[in-house]
Amino acid sequence: MNDKQLVAEHAAQRIESGMLVGLGTGSTANFFIEALARRQQDDNLQIEVVASSIVSTLKAQQLGLKLRGMEHIGGLDVYVDGADEVAPDLTLLKGRGGDLVREKLLAKAAKAFWVLIDPSKHVKRIGQNYPVPIEVMPFAWQLVQRSLAGIGGAAKLRSHGDGLFVTSYGSLVLDTAFDPGVDGKTLNAQLNAIPGIVEHGIFADLTSAVFCGNNGSVEESLA
Ligand code: A5P
Repeated sequence: MNDKQLVAEHAAQRIESGMLVGLGTGSTANFFIEALARRQQDDNLQIEVVASSIVSTLKAQQLGLKLRGMEHIGGLDVYVDGADEVAPDLTLLKGRGGDLVREKLLAKAAKAFWVLIDPSKHVKRIGQNYPVPIEVMPFAWQLVQRSLAGIGGAAKLRSHGDGLFVTSYGSLVLDTAFDPGVDGKTLNAQLNAIPGIVEHGIFADLTSAVFCGNNGSVEESLA
């Protein structure tokens, strides 16, 4: 069992009957979906799930989990997902997969948000290893690019093959590098104020706990 599987198993063991569980997107979230389906089968866990992407929906369906549509929920007990970066104050960078709108909605709506990582995801500052993914309305990308330049961001449209990358809901993505001195929470507030941005990959003040699989054991950081 690798560290991603270990941490996914650890989180699945904490799920209780009666919960509505949010499913993240990505390789770690996939291990969690598998571990949850095994618990449903082996421990007769009575749960429902809500997925953050088409990929997670399909996986949950194939494994026999009972799905609720996001449009039919008023909240959820816990949302479980991976992350691309985790800063010391538990601010996250997410969204390399292009599903961050639903991911952030579920993280915000959940009573608890558990983040599953391995040690490679720990960073000193948001944006250290990856640019910040910023989803924009297609017709707004140049104006948003200009606004981003105004706060020190160098934004490049994400490409896919010979064309542009398009998210699950038809937005374009500006992958944006910022000055290393800028703090994640400040940037979060600045990005929230720019018109034309659908959503961005900084998740501030949303994390409840980070579970980090490290060489066969799980370290927990609580918010
Ligand atoms: C999906 O859009 C992302 O936010 C993922 O949660 C993130 O990229 C982590 O993915 P892995 O679990 O595959 O590392």
